[in-house]
Amino acid sequence: MDESLTAPQFIGYVIEAEQQAKALLGSSNASIDELRIKLFGNKSEFSRLTKKIRDVIPSDRQQAGIVLNEVKRKIEKQLNDSSSVKRQASNKEFFDVTAPGIPPPVGHLHIVTQAIMEITRIFERIGFTRVRHPEVDWDWYPFESLNMPPNHPARDEWETFFIGLSDKQGQIVLTPHTSNGQVREMEKGKLPIRMINIAKCYRRQSDVSHVPMFHQFEGMYIDKGVTIGDLTGVFNFFVKNYYGPDRKIRLRPFHFQFTEPSFEVDINCGICLGKGCKLCKEGWLELGGAGMVHPVVLKNGGIDPDVYNGFAFGWGVERAYMMKSGTKLDDIRMLYGNDVRFLKQF
Ligand code: PHE
Repeated sequence: MDESLTAPQFIGYVIEAEQQAKALLGSSNASIDELRIKLFGNKSEFSRLTKKIRDVIPSDRQQAGIVLNEVKRKIEKQLNDSSSVKRQASNKEFFDVTAPGIPPPVGHLHIVTQAIMEITRIFERIGFTRVRHPEVDWDWYPFESLNMPPNHPARDEWETFFIGLSDKQGQIVLTPHTSNGQVREMEKGKLPIRMINIAKCYRRQSDVSHVPMFHQFEGMYIDKGVTIGDLTGVFNFFVKNYYGPDRKIRLRPFHFQFTEPSFEVDINCGICLGKGCKLCKEGWLELGGAGMVHPVVLKNGGIDPDVYNGFAFGWGVERAYMMKSGTKLDDIRMLYGNDVRFLKQF
């Protein structure tokens, strides 16, 4: 004990210790407990100064003690504050494995894909098999083989895209209907045929009920002794399964080059069931074309029309879907607008 320090001298040491302590608190990543030991432990500057009070001249000792204690209290408070901040920060990292998760947004198949799958399933139940035929094809398959030679006026109905290519098998087109699959299926040489050909079709058209690229499902049944009764039976089976037990079909005489006789197939409206209402006007909605396969087409497919016959139909997937009541889909272009807000609803 040499009792030679004055209060200002001692306070000078205290201020130095305070600055060191603040620097440590501001920069260190050490844990709260480690910091507490560093700041106030036995070997700390503050405990050294506490002992050093003995060296202060007795008249200044009280003042030196007060200042030292005040500074220690200040630093202690800072340490505690930073400890609660740290605790909060580490709370943030706390991960509760038992909390329910946030479900990731999941999409769904496009409505047209859903419709294709449903249509396929219905026809599969009565022995039809889904097949695929080219969507870019030689003119022969969608036209000539179907009794529509070049320049035949009936071709106009199909508003075809010609892609400007041809080879020795003829001009190449984007198929405007799935009927190109008829002769292609016959060429496989296996009988009887029960095919359902679903593919994209292309026509130069665009309005509320037409888009340039759409889908058709083409059914064809070829066997011995097929009748129009088989045709109506299959159509009614489809319509009742796809639209509901109250729905039924109606055939109207029509003309196609590749069927004889030919029909337009209607189904009764889902709202008024055929009585006539604001939606359907006269009770019936048009599904698409059909008929008994023309003998010339069978011959083009290598099948003897004196032994075999059958029926075919080709309907639009989008159109068939839009005729389901309750879809509230009145503009076919919405299906391909890629507006997720719209598509999400289905
Ligand atoms: N291909 C015809 C169309 O696109 C529909 C049809 C298919 C008609 C099969 C008769 C037989 O309109």
